[in-house]
Amino acid sequence: MKIATTIADMRALCCSAKSSGKRLGLVPTMGALHAGHLSLVHAARSRSDVVAASIFVNPTQFGPNEDFARYPRNLEDDCTILEREGVEFVFAPSVDEMYPKGAVTWVRVEGLSDRLCGKSRPGHFRGVTTVVAKLFHIVEPDSAFFGQKDAAQHAIIRHMVRDLHMPITIEVCPIVREADGLALSSRNAYLGAAERKSALVLYRSLMRVQHRYEGGERDSAALISAAKNELSTDATVRLDYFEIVNPDTLEPQSRVEGRTLVAVAAFAGKTRLIDNVVLGA
Ligand code: PAJ
Repeated sequence: MKIATTIADMRALCCSAKSSGKRLGLVPTMGALHAGHLSLVHAARSRSDVVAASIFVNPTQFGPNEDFARYPRNLEDDCTILEREGVEFVFAPSVDEMYPKGAVTWVRVEGLSDRLCGKSRPGHFRGVTTVVAKLFHIVEPDSAFFGQKDAAQHAIIRHMVRDLHMPITIEVCPIVREADGLALSSRNAYLGAAERKSALVLYRSLMRVQHRYEGGERDSAALISAAKNELSTDATVRLDYFEIVNPDTLEPQSRVEGRTLVAVAAFAGKTRLIDNVVLGA
């Protein structure tokens, strides 16, 4: 496995693979890898000839009072894992490499970037789309792999790729969960034992909606109210949003008709967690 820290080195690796006709798959991450990330690597492995992964904690997608400084970083362990998984290239640049001094250019997907997490984390998705666009230009993958865990993120990236005519296929992989339902996340490392237990209420609220839906309920207000009842059973969890939206436009839907995204974000202590289910899939 080759590890590149400069854009020039990463470009050279990817160009040589592509010029020999290999199909290149990219898995963008912020590191602190867990089985959710590895599911993307496995999908990339099975659908590409060469797999590249990036590890970059992207400062521009964190708000001023968020966890950029303390976000878990363990590059050495991550590289050991990626090598074991058969990844060929790792891109692990510095912040200065990715954002040269005086950089003033942003990629912003309008409208969608202000919905769901974009509402409570202003500028978050602008940071995501800007860094992902940079990664796409550097690696020039045939396909890139994202998790359903970040449902708004992949919807926004799919719009960016379409609008900017990027010749890249976006692949979306299912959410990987712990046995008790908690969605894997690098931020789960912040949770104490009690918070970890409380965090399960997010999944329970989604399951409550799914069961009501399976019982025939289609009214979003009724489904959201059932979810909020469940969420209120744990007083230590503070709700950010619970929404029922179109999975492509992220616009709220008053009724569940066709494929529908049910998304939740909440704080367990200081840790912000997100989760979702898709109905009518
Ligand atoms: P990060 O949070 O490290 O996640 C990298 C990828 O792993 C994302 O596509 C995310 O959806 C996926 N992922 C995380 N948890 C998952 C789970 N439990 N099951 C399945 N997939 C999961 O998302 C980012 O990094 C950044 O915003 C990034 C796209 C790298 C841009 O900086």
